[in-house]
This record gives sequence, C-alpha cells and structure tokens, in this order.
Amino acid sequence: MIFYFSGTGNSAWAAQQLAHLTGDEVYDITALTNPPDVQSAEQIGFVFPIYAWGVPEPMVTFAKKLKKAAHLPLAFALVVLRPGLP
Ligand SMILES: Cc1cc2nc3c(=O)[nH]c(=O)nc-3n(C[C@H](O)[C@H](O)[C@H](O)COP(=O)(O)O)c2cc1C
Repeated sequence: MIFYFSGTGNSAWAAQQLAHLTGDEVYDITALTNPPDVQSAEQIGFVFPIYAWGVPEPMVTFAKKLKKAAHLPLAFALVVLRPGLP
C-alpha cells in the first residue's frame, strides 16, 4: 500500500511509478474518507513533498490516524522536494 499527498502532481507521479514497480495499490490520502486497514499489509509507503522543511500537515494527520499493525510492516517514505531549496 502506497499513500501519497501531492500539491502539484510530482509526488502523485512518483507514487504511481513506485506502485507500478512494486505492485502495490496506490492511494491519494485526500480522497480517502476512512483510514484504511493496514493490519495485514506487508509493506506501506508514504510519498509526499517537503513543505517548509517538513512533512505536509495532511500527511502527518493521516499517518496519526492509521492503526498500529500487529506486526511491523516494512515502511518507507519517499520525499519529493525541489532541488536547490534548503
Ligand atoms: C508551500 C511549499 C513549501 C515548500 N517547501 C520546500 C522546502 O522546504 N524544501 C524543498 O526542497 N522544497 C520545498 N517545496 C517544493 C516542493 O517540495 C516541490 O515542489 C515538490 O516537488 C512538490 O511536490 P508535489 O508536486 O507532489 O506537491 C515547497 C513547496 C511548497 C508549495
């Protein structure tokens, strides 16, 4: 499962490319009405841009709503940023 937040489409593109390579389902977090069940996920990924040197607030809020899995799935995060910015 790959969850992404994207303001202008870069992270959406990256998430879709990743999902294509890994065979994961890809979800736009702004389109999800309920937090998905990640209990049985083998791996979960988060793709988001850097906003003001940090994680965008919608992604933080979303991640906090996820129930902790019984076992720890492999988790990864792909950060999309703009080269040249600090
Ligand atoms: C409000 C705002 C703040 C940003 N802050 C940073 C930053 O601190 N560092 C950085 O490298 N890029 C920053 N960026 C650039 C974005 O991370 C970059 O354009 C990214 O590719 C946007 O991804 P998206 O198309 O998925 O929204 C910022 C962009 C916006 C709109």
